[in-house]
Amino acid sequence: ADLSLEEIRAWEPTGIILSGGPSSVYDENSPKACEGIFDLGIPVLGICYGMQLMTHTLGGEIKSSDEREYGKAILNVKLKDSPLSDGIELDGSQVWMSHGDSVTKIPEGFETVGSTSSTPYTMIQDLKRQCYGLQFHPEVKHSIMGMDILHHYLFEICKCDTTWEMKSYLESSLLKIREQVGEEDKVILGLSGGVDSSVMALLLDKAIGKRLTCIFIDNGLLRLNEGDEVEKAFKDHYHLNFIRIDASETFLNNLAGVSDPEKKRKVIGKTFIDVFEEAVASQDDVKWLAQGTIYPDVIESTPTHGSSVTIKSHHNVGGLPDDMKLKILEPLRELFKDEVRALGSELGLPHSLLWRHPFPGPGLAVRVLGEVTEERCDVLRKADRIYIDEIKAAGIYDEIGQAFAVLLPINSVGVMGDGRTYENVLALRAVTTEDFMTADWYDFDQEFMAKISNRIVGEVRGVNRVVYDVTSKPPGTIEWE
Ligand code: XMP
Repeated sequence: ADLSLEEIRAWEPTGIILSGGPSSVYDENSPKACEGIFDLGIPVLGICYGMQLMTHTLGGEIKSSDEREYGKAILNVKLKDSPLSDGIELDGSQVWMSHGDSVTKIPEGFETVGSTSSTPYTMIQDLKRQCYGLQFHPEVKHSIMGMDILHHYLFEICKCDTTWEMKSYLESSLLKIREQVGEEDKVILGLSGGVDSSVMALLLDKAIGKRLTCIFIDNGLLRLNEGDEVEKAFKDHYHLNFIRIDASETFLNNLAGVSDPEKKRKVIGKTFIDVFEEAVASQDDVKWLAQGTIYPDVIESTPTHGSSVTIKSHHNVGGLPDDMKLKILEPLRELFKDEVRALGSELGLPHSLLWRHPFPGPGLAVRVLGEVTEERCDVLRKADRIYIDEIKAAGIYDEIGQAFAVLLPINSVGVMGDGRTYENVLALRAVTTEDFMTADWYDFDQEFMAKISNRIVGEVRGVNRVVYDVTSKPPGTIEWE
């Protein structure tokens, strides 16, 4: 356990949640809870591995298994008046399982609240100790009533207040930045125009004003007019110290002859570092570099065992050489993506910017399949603009998680007017997704598809055929490269 019982007591938590995880209680290095945690008089909710740990620690039994139960199960509620579920229509509802080991005997003092056909102890409780356990995952949307259960735990059992709000987070965040940076230091930020860096730019501007310099690198792989739009917003509208570096030629030269997707990413990453480093060197006495690390990055890079935290480098400024000697500022480090958006909204960023579909760091280089040239990027830019404009006009942009066009490295035969054409094939992709880890293809109506296809083939020279990608993730990825 990372925290001792004394540290937990001193912290005075309102409730404790022991989360799920890939371990088995029988693994030598599996995470443990400190002794006495279940007898503090503070409610504890164990989820999946957390419930098994609770059971194991308190004298119940766990059956080790190499086979996993993964997927939907139906809950059969035995105790209707458990404080975890009182008033929730849980009986017969779907829950999401993902576990190997399972509980075969509950500790003394515990009772069964609910079970499924394969898992007799799916929900358990010990009211005297205020300990609760869920074998399924209430936090995923496939557990239909999962959020209601968590709500019950937090507000009925732990009696949490709903006093946390973004406005007060913003105030405390500004104080923290000022304290960290001091009265004089200057900060540099690599601004891409994406959600995280845009929110950071406005946040830092509010905290330290003109001591912030934003560097925007145009790598020649952006969407149509994107560079101008970012400049207009941050330089002309928000009046930030904004430096735009047109490095398109450098990036495209370095990419010449490169077709392998991973090699493209490497070339782009390295070129970015070189260009960014040069830009920073041209600035006098900058002390800090702001990075867009957000909480999922922190979690992803925290080892399951041990407490050392190594931070995943940010896509765009990852791997900056140590000899830049800049101190790292990570003002979004505590926030999930939806909270970054809420903070952005508090700072006045418009909906259109906050809810823009994600755009990968390597940009159009991974959407022009095969070798990347300026001409091919231009063809793709025009087609992509038509596609996205039509999606917006149809009022479906916010329903779609990500939509974009891909220029394929093959030509196809067509006929236009009286002549034969031999030109590029363009693929369209649109997906719905919760977290970009899994995704489904979006089901456009046929009239809409006919319209975009006609417009693209009619208006974009160099494209004579349009196809639509109907592959979900997995097995496909969202991007084509
Ligand atoms: P995939 O293609 O892996 O994409 O299903 C998942 C999400 O990640 C984005 N993506 C990237 N973003 N650098 C980035 O900054 C990259 O190299 C990269 N590759 C994929 C992709 O657009 C999608 O949102």
